[in-house]
Amino acid sequence: MILVTGANGTIGSHVVPRLLARGERVRALVRDAARAAKLGPDVEIVVGDLTRPETLDRAFARVDRVFLATTGSDLPQQEANAIAAAERAGVGHVVKLSVMMPEGTPRIGSASWHEASERTLRASRLAWTMLRGGNFASNALAFADPTSPLASVFALAGDGGLAHVDPRDIADVAVLALTSGSAHHGRVYDLTGATPLSYREVVRILASITGKPIVLRERPPAEIRAELLAGGFPADLANAFVGAMSAVREGVWDHVSPDVERLLGRPPRAFEEWARDHAHFFA
Ligand SMILES: NC(=O)c1ccc[n+]([C@@H]2O[C@H](COP(=O)([O-])OP(=O)(O)OC[C@H]3O[C@@H](n4cnc5c(N)ncnc54)[C@H](OP(=O)(O)O)[C@@H]3O)[C@@H](O)[C@H]2O)c1
Repeated sequence: MILVTGANGTIGSHVVPRLLARGERVRALVRDAARAAKLGPDVEIVVGDLTRPETLDRAFARVDRVFLATTGSDLPQQEANAIAAAERAGVGHVVKLSVMMPEGTPRIGSASWHEASERTLRASRLAWTMLRGGNFASNALAFADPTSPLASVFALAGDGGLAHVDPRDIADVAVLALTSGSAHHGRVYDLTGATPLSYREVVRILASITGKPIVLRERPPAEIRAELLAGGFPADLANAFVGAMSAVREGVWDHVSPDVERLLGRPPRAFEEWARDHAHFFA
């Protein structure tokens, strides 16, 4: 039995159907069973919350492998709770969704959460695989919502490149790692697309594929930070977003990894493919 956390989320929602298609028994840990209905009748749904350890033993019972994904500034504690529950249940292998941390990039925001959580997993008795994702192509959905504060944040990146990775490629690697015995135990993979693209290029591609003009509103970092705070973002998260995109602008985030192609035996999906498959969100 494979337990998928974050099963309603960006990567987990692609991992579940892929595991089912391979004939695996899948259990999803979700906070809201109603939202999990879209996962279909073949998935066992367990309602639980990674911040509440008392809800986890039922979810981890009889599980031998786990896809671990969650989010939030309390991610290190959430995942420590999951790791402790996995150890109690005798789980064999945890495939953890993490974030890329290239040399020279600041360990702020999610990089600091994942760095701490990777340490906890390495120190556990569990076999592990770390999937360090590059910038998700799906972040571009922010441009489908003219009120999204993230669209302003991405504008800060200027001409700095990011090797946007398609969430479906991360899910493909997760499924490989979960279903290949011990072949990927103790491995750390950087999962990126094949070509760095700036957000200026992303917007151009989206506009040409969707036929809808998308304007990148470029403004000074202090103005965008103030807008995030006014929009209710906690100060640490606003600082992390602005800091991370300013680092992208400096060109320290354009790292391309060969891991997707090496593992899957095919090139990563191009950003254009993601854009075509999601053009309806921009209609
Ligand atoms: N976006 C990027 O470019 C990027 C790049 C690399 C790595 N990452 C990492 O990828 C992960 C997913 O990020 P995302 O923004 O795409 O989020 P997401 O997958 O859309 O949402 C997070 C998932 O975590 C679940 N979750 C949150 N808190 C939980 C809790 N207390 N207990 C149980 N489940 C909980 C949510 O469950 P519900 O469905 O119940 O809300 C949701 O399914 C994060 O760790 C992020 O750091 C993101």
